Amino acid sequence: MDSATNGVTFSVPYEMAVVRPLRQTTEPERQAALARAHYNTDIIPQELIYIDLSTDSGVSASSIGQLAAAAQPVEPGMGLASEGSAAYGRLAAALQRYFGFEYFVPTTQGRSAERIWTKINIKPGSVVAGNLLFPSTRNHIEMVGAQIVDVIGEAAHDFVTDEPFKGNIDLNKLEQLIQEKGAGQISCVYVELSVNSCGGHPVSLDNLRSVKAIAARHKIPLFLDACRLLENSALIQAREAAYRQRSLADIVRETCALADGGTMSALKDFLVTTGGFIFTRDRSSQQKAAMQSFLDGVQLSAGAMEAISVTLPEIFASEAYMTQRVEQVKYLWDRLAGTVPALRPASGHGVFIDLKKFFAPIVPEPFAAEALAAFVYLKSGIRLSKGPPLAPSQAARGVQLLRLAVPARKYLNGHMDDVAEAMRYAYARRNEIMGLKKIDDPARSKYDPVHFVTL
Ligand code: F0G
Repeated sequence: MDSATNGVTFSVPYEMAVVRPLRQTTEPERQAALARAHYNTDIIPQELIYIDLSTDSGVSASSIGQLAAAAQPVEPGMGLASEGSAAYGRLAAALQRYFGFEYFVPTTQGRSAERIWTKINIKPGSVVAGNLLFPSTRNHIEMVGAQIVDVIGEAAHDFVTDEPFKGNIDLNKLEQLIQEKGAGQISCVYVELSVNSCGGHPVSLDNLRSVKAIAARHKIPLFLDACRLLENSALIQAREAAYRQRSLADIVRETCALADGGTMSALKDFLVTTGGFIFTRDRSSQQKAAMQSFLDGVQLSAGAMEAISVTLPEIFASEAYMTQRVEQVKYLWDRLAGTVPALRPASGHGVFIDLKKFFAPIVPEPFAAEALAAFVYLKSGIRLSKGPPLAPSQAARGVQLLRLAVPARKYLNGHMDDVAEAMRYAYARRNEIMGLKKIDDPARSKYDPVHFVTL
């Protein structure tokens, strides 16, 4: 029972209006598909996939409002005068209302925002303090010639305890880094909310506030990778005592208020198929970034800006959207955690499997994630993927993970039951999972999708 709703507890804040049929293939069909894809599940054609948990990016169902916005002819919003377009104006009002940054630059994706933002803000030869940043952020920072030092807490590497905020920065490590390198050598502290690389674990507002205080004392800017801002906020509300009674919209604004700027992909929590942002409080950075987005050809079209303007009020109209996403991940996690070695505690956008434990006492081979994904596909038609490449500090510890990314507003809990059944089946028969060996074919480039043979 819930006093906010006069006694009724609401869960899912939408109903099905349009559906896409899913093929339920036979095992021989899947065996043939796997063989054709050389055991790389990433390249199996979508029509042969039952449930796809390879990413939560750009795959959410559209709302009626989004479809209506897409059908309307909108005036062009690109070119040097894009700020003058009506679509830009509507987007600016929505972003200002929900996130509170003075300035922004819309881009095509999170990674194009990162490319521009790092180029403007990160000096070659400098250091960036981070919390196991996503590979695209990492790559862009390294491409400008800076070094990333992970100052995330040790709990991020612990897959067993139930510490609620394993994405937190270790304040001592941060202070030490500043002492060691000198504040002038540190371009920024870059904090990813809900850290993808180590299990999607959130960052607390208490931690972020302390990080901000340290950074501000040394005049180092604090930037956010805010693409999973909503689920981070939902987990703050659920786990951080001081915020239990606060609205998610308040938590979102309070999180953003601590940052000097940052980047965001709108493809995950924000339910669109294209779009990203640079956020800043500095007008001249915004002007530089806007010019660079024009030069790079990564401006967001007016239609895509319109889609985000329509989506934000829909999301913030009800806390149920954000809480339901996190609850669905927890639903899947609850069905696995007792049996299959899932990283603890549950997080916001996926369930991560510890492959070292999964295959223990045998040490997992280099392609254990791909081998497990191939087995799960063979038995169930479900696609999983290794997830983002690990940070070097994780690889050095011998970490091996498989990510079950749960897209927002796409699947029902019935699908989660099927995934849990497939994973429990695979775990019970882990001795039958065939290892994979990469085919080294000199005729194929290193950018071609990997081909495997079974061992
Ligand atoms: N930051 C994080 C934390 C991400 O997870 C992603 C993308 C990006 C930045 C880049 O955003 O895709 O819009 O360019 N993550 C996807 C995933 C690809 O499957 O986790 P983008």
